[in-house]
Amino acid sequence: MPRPHGGKLVNRLTKASKIEKVKTEALEIPKVSVSHELRLDFENIAFGLYSPLKGPLTETEFDSVVSKGRLSNDIPWSIPILLDVTEDEASKFNVGDSIAIESNGELFAVVEVDDKYGWDKEFYSINIYKTIDSEHPGVAKTNRMNPVLVGGSMEIFNEHPGKFPKYRLKPEETRFLFKEKGWRTVAGFQTRNAPHMGHEYVQKTALSFVDGLFINPLIGKKKAGDFTDIAIIESYQALIDNYFLKNAATLVTLEMEMRYAGPKEAIHHAIVRKNYGNSHFIVGRDHAGVGSYYGPFEAQEIFEDYPDLGIAPIFFRNFFHCNKCGGPQNDKVCPHGDEDRENFKGRIMRKLLAEGKNPDPTQMRPEVTETILRHEKPFVE
Ligand code: ADX
Repeated sequence: MPRPHGGKLVNRLTKASKIEKVKTEALEIPKVSVSHELRLDFENIAFGLYSPLKGPLTETEFDSVVSKGRLSNDIPWSIPILLDVTEDEASKFNVGDSIAIESNGELFAVVEVDDKYGWDKEFYSINIYKTIDSEHPGVAKTNRMNPVLVGGSMEIFNEHPGKFPKYRLKPEETRFLFKEKGWRTVAGFQTRNAPHMGHEYVQKTALSFVDGLFINPLIGKKKAGDFTDIAIIESYQALIDNYFLKNAATLVTLEMEMRYAGPKEAIHHAIVRKNYGNSHFIVGRDHAGVGSYYGPFEAQEIFEDYPDLGIAPIFFRNFFHCNKCGGPQNDKVCPHGDEDRENFKGRIMRKLLAEGKNPDPTQMRPEVTETILRHEKPFVE
């Protein structure tokens, strides 16, 4: 099992014995409001999923991460975690102060402020998303963010139970779980989708040379037309129950928003899985991509810049159904031509499901289809 990123699992949850004191103090200090997504990022810091980060980036770290894809001490880090506040909020505190953070009217964290700074959103978007096109969901979000960034260290005194508490394990729990299961090597699988046959064969191919598969769907804000969180969880449970060996796969949710940053997000996804204790991380075609902003294998190529990442990527070319081979194949093993190949097209499967129709069983398992169709609204609106 790899050591946590940066060497040590960060824990920024306030000790139980101090919660009441910190909570009372939080009522007396300047307050800033954040989105639910940022609350999740803060929780991921607190749980150690973003180790070695201890809080939102300072300006030095921001510059280093945005321009080099590394923290200032050279540790790989590709997606900046930022606390953005309004000018008005920023005018109420200084460097050295502590501020209280609330989301949806609930106070949950305290940040010790090390830095307050402005940022260049175009420079940010070009470096993180490789575009400044406001049609890109990540760029659009960046453009909506506040003008002042706050860097510092934080702690959480009011932990959100999470959307599906039973599935939301912390890294210290997954590390324990892998030991208990006797898994020395574990392949992490990121997804924002209900599983189609392409996903299953990517997973099973990886599973043939590691001890266990860590299916880790992302729960949180996604774009309209993506599967709802509950549809993803239930359809994966159906897949695991019907098509995986017992003790081969485990399902744990990761509450974190999708950034659709393609290559940079693939590195972030790998770092988070390393902190969970995964030895390997699966990167297939168009990982974390959107539209045609990234080449189909750009999210694999970026790993060449990170030989020191500390988690081994497993790359897959395109999986498709081959009519001649009679099953799922990929272009490293199937000798047949395009006329025999059916790509796994998530968009078309989602369209069929939205019309209440079943995708072909060569594209999606019937048990998965049935589970999705049991939901009146299986897609984000
Ligand atoms: S993602 O945004 O989370 O990457 P998705 O849930 O569709 O989207 O993909 C999960 C993982 O499976 C990613 O690593 C992706 O590259 C891989 N993948 C999806 N479809 C295929 C396919 N047909 N062939 C190879 N890899 C695939």
